[in-house]
Amino acid sequence: MCGIIGYIGEKNCVPILLNGLKRLEYRGYDSAGLALINNGTASVIKNKGKVSLLQEKVDSLNLSAKLGIGHTRWATHGVPNEINAHPHHNHKKNLFVIHNGIIENYQTLREGLRQMGYSFLSETDSEVLPHLIDSFLQKGFDLFKAVRLALSEVEGTYGIAVIYEGEPNKIVAARKGSPLIVGVGENENFVASDVSAILAHTKQVAYLEDGELVEIYKDKFITKTISDTEIAKEVHEISMTLDQIDKGGYPHFMLKEIMEQPDSVTNSLRGRILFKKGTAKLGGLESVTEQLTNSKRIIISACGTSWHSGLVGEYMLEQFARIPTEVEYASEFRYRNPIITPEDTVFFISQSGETADTLAALREAKIRGALVLGICNVVGSSIARGSMAGVYIHAGPEIGVASTKAFTSQLIVLALITLLIARKKHLSLIDGKSIAEELKNIPQKIEEILKLNSHIEMIAEQFKDAKNFLYLGRGYNFPVALEGALKLKEISYIHAEGYPAAEMKHGPIALIDENMPVVFIAPKDSTYEKIVSNIEEIKARKGRIIAIASQSDNEIDKLVDYTIKVPDTIRMLMPILTVIPLQLLAYHIAVKKGLNVDQPRNLAKSVTVE
Ligand code: M6R
Repeated sequence: MCGIIGYIGEKNCVPILLNGLKRLEYRGYDSAGLALINNGTASVIKNKGKVSLLQEKVDSLNLSAKLGIGHTRWATHGVPNEINAHPHHNHKKNLFVIHNGIIENYQTLREGLRQMGYSFLSETDSEVLPHLIDSFLQKGFDLFKAVRLALSEVEGTYGIAVIYEGEPNKIVAARKGSPLIVGVGENENFVASDVSAILAHTKQVAYLEDGELVEIYKDKFITKTISDTEIAKEVHEISMTLDQIDKGGYPHFMLKEIMEQPDSVTNSLRGRILFKKGTAKLGGLESVTEQLTNSKRIIISACGTSWHSGLVGEYMLEQFARIPTEVEYASEFRYRNPIITPEDTVFFISQSGETADTLAALREAKIRGALVLGICNVVGSSIARGSMAGVYIHAGPEIGVASTKAFTSQLIVLALITLLIARKKHLSLIDGKSIAEELKNIPQKIEEILKLNSHIEMIAEQFKDAKNFLYLGRGYNFPVALEGALKLKEISYIHAEGYPAAEMKHGPIALIDENMPVVFIAPKDSTYEKIVSNIEEIKARKGRIIAIASQSDNEIDKLVDYTIKVPDTIRMLMPILTVIPLQLLAYHIAVKKGLNVDQPRNLAKSVTVE
């Protein structure tokens, strides 16, 4: 949600922190701040708004320091303003804390601290932390112990970094439910909530686990549990490159990520199809393949776009693997006492691997003894590490808040998993081979659809002022209708709803008039004739229609206002193609409305709070 970066070393950390914050801005972006300690003297600079505004303020002050922390915020408690921005400090202004997550018992802690004489400036839950830590410093504990003791009183989630004028040779950081890594450099070390913040400086990282604290010096770091046991940490080399997290000449990350899909999908497929055997090979599932294949039931749990890919997965798994499959919002799953048995497999799908609801649902499924598998993009993320086994989608870093390439790569992985199970059960070699062949052709077909970019931009121009949109699809393309509507609403702020096309007559048809654009996902498949009837029903009520149709369909042009033609493929893979025009349509409408597509209002890339 929010972003954390910290530096200790020999260099001036001010540009390092600011550049790191810019990289983290996609996680949250309503205010930002730095705390620095230079020659034993602390300073703090905060600003409402984007990191560029903080940068202007910092530039005018000509600051320099070799120890500092920085934060970019996405408000949960308290409006976005300078006072609520992090870092927060104690009353002496010599101890600074940045915090991601939510302190659930902050009111109780605040009350206790008030009785001890502490006063508060902000409306945030986070501000209790510097005062609570301060209260232990006052009792004579050193910074590390003071942080440890303070955190043992905290309920909720946190990723924190703390610096203190009294101990200017270290950063103390801790994690519970909010990701944190230590970046290891040459005579310099970092802490960050996300690799992208420090990638320009090091590729060596250690992942903190929940309940761990770390004392970071410029030449070493010491990790302990909250109960004070020292633990040895493995340092991993990450493969991500800086190019992958830059815009690469595109005006927005979202467009870059849409355009990258032929490559991202290729990466998701790489080495995973066994063409001769008509099946898939997924190294991450080898140890559990038998248990997975024999599952009595599959549950897929996720949020947002990942939940939509789960819905497509349900269709795939039930059609080909013939295992009853249910898809659950992670946020509902975790609270509704779900029936789960050891014969169930629960997949958790998450681009970031850090979504709080999904992570909590994963823990619940584990406690109940199910086989818990992850489908994640971010390597080493909490969901990936918390799963018993799993598959990385290998889509590469996704920075735009609207998920695009992660969705298509999730669908590829779900298709591979389906193929793997189905071939172990009922699917014939011939049918397995034809799915494998079709999978291989998907990147090329995406390439063809992307060539329609300017045609889609022209359509966007016609519809940019619409106030509402309806997206309709059937079967495998019903989840695509949901995803198309989500893409539009999150970046263009146009109200949009997705529906199964046949449900239209049970209510939404009342909305149709000349002001209601309707997007039909209508490839030539077994429900095509029925979709055409729905199109007629909309036309009769003067609705304006955009159809995502098959290249071979020459009839549909006569029925609708605009068509976007996609190549044919087998039904189970069609969503990977039909979603691409919807991503581009949403993108162009948002750009034409002058909106910030990469950082839409009120949203953050990774939702690490409930
Ligand atoms: O990182 P995750 O896949 O777990 O994220 C889940 C949702 O927060 C995410 O898909 C969100 O809905 C996107 N903004 C959609 O574009």
